[in-house]
Amino acid sequence: MLETNKIHKIDALTGLQKIDNESVRLVFADPPYNLLGLDMFVDVQGYKSWVHRWAEEVKRILKWDGTFILCGRPPILCHLLVDMLELGFVFREWITWHKVDSITASKEYHSYNYEIFAVFSKWTDRVYNHIPVPSKSGNYGTERNAGSIWEHCKISSHHKEGTKHPTQKPIKFLDRFVRTYTNKGDLVVDMFMGSGTTAVACKQNKRDFVGFEINGDYIKMAESRLSETPSHETLPIGNFATQKDLISVKEENQK
Ligand SMILES: C[S@@+](CC[C@H](N)C(=O)[O-])C[C@H]1O[C@@H](n2cnc3c(N)ncnc32)[C@H](O)[C@@H]1O
Repeated sequence: MLETNKIHKIDALTGLQKIDNESVRLVFADPPYNLLGLDMFVDVQGYKSWVHRWAEEVKRILKWDGTFILCGRPPILCHLLVDMLELGFVFREWITWHKVDSITASKEYHSYNYEIFAVFSKWTDRVYNHIPVPSKSGNYGTERNAGSIWEHCKISSHHKEGTKHPTQKPIKFLDRFVRTYTNKGDLVVDMFMGSGTTAVACKQNKRDFVGFEINGDYIKMAESRLSETPSHETLPIGNFATQKDLISVKEENQK
C-alpha cells in the first residue's frame, strides 16, 4: 500500500496497481482529454484501451459502496461511458460544469463552455450524503437539491484560487464531491492530481488521499497549495452552501 496524504510521482496505472483491493471510497479521474489529438494519444482506440486498463484497477480498489468520477467531454467521453457500463460500473449522475465566462470568438460553432463529471458507483448501493443548497425562490422551502448543472467560472492563473496549471478544477466542486461520496476518515484516490485540488478538498474535510502525477513541477505546486490549507477549515460557500448558510437563509425567511 502507498503512503497516504501524499502526491506520488508515478504513472497513474502503476500507482493504482500498488493499492489494496476494496480499500478506497472515491476515485477521481481527470485524465488528459485527448482533445484534437494534442495530448499523448493520437487515436481514439489507443485512448480507450489505456482508460480501460486503469478503469479495471479502479473497480478492484473501490469498496463495494464506493464512487468513481470520470471527467471529460463528448465525443471521447461517450466512448468511455459505454466501456464503463460494460465493465460493470453503475451509472449514477452526469454533472455539467457550466463555465459561465467561457466563450469563443468563433461564429461557426457554439462555445464549448462546459465539462462533464460522469459519476459511477461500484454497486447499486453507495455512500451518498445529501447536501442541499439554499432555495432562492422559496419554492418547496428554503433548501433545494443542488441539481446537475453546476455553475462556476474557469480557474485561470488570475483567479483567486488559480495556479499555473492549465486545467485546474474549482475547489468548490471537489469539496462537494468529497463530502457527498465519502465519510470522514475515508480514503480518496486522485489519479491525475494536477494542481492538487482533490488533495486540498480532502485535507479540509479530514479525508485521507493518495494522489498520482507525472509532472514534478505540478507536484511542487500542489504541495505548496496543500501546505497553505488548514485541516478542516471553514468550508467554501457560494453556490454550494454550508450548514451555516442554510441556517442564515432560514433565519432570513422567518423575519
Ligand atoms: C486534466 S489534468 C488534472 C487537473 C486537476 N484535476 C486539477 O484540478 O488541477 C491531468 C493531469 O494528469 C497528469 N498526467 C498525465 N498523464 C499521467 C499519467 N499517466 N499518470 C499520472 N498523471 C498523469 C498531467 O500532468 C496533468 O497534470
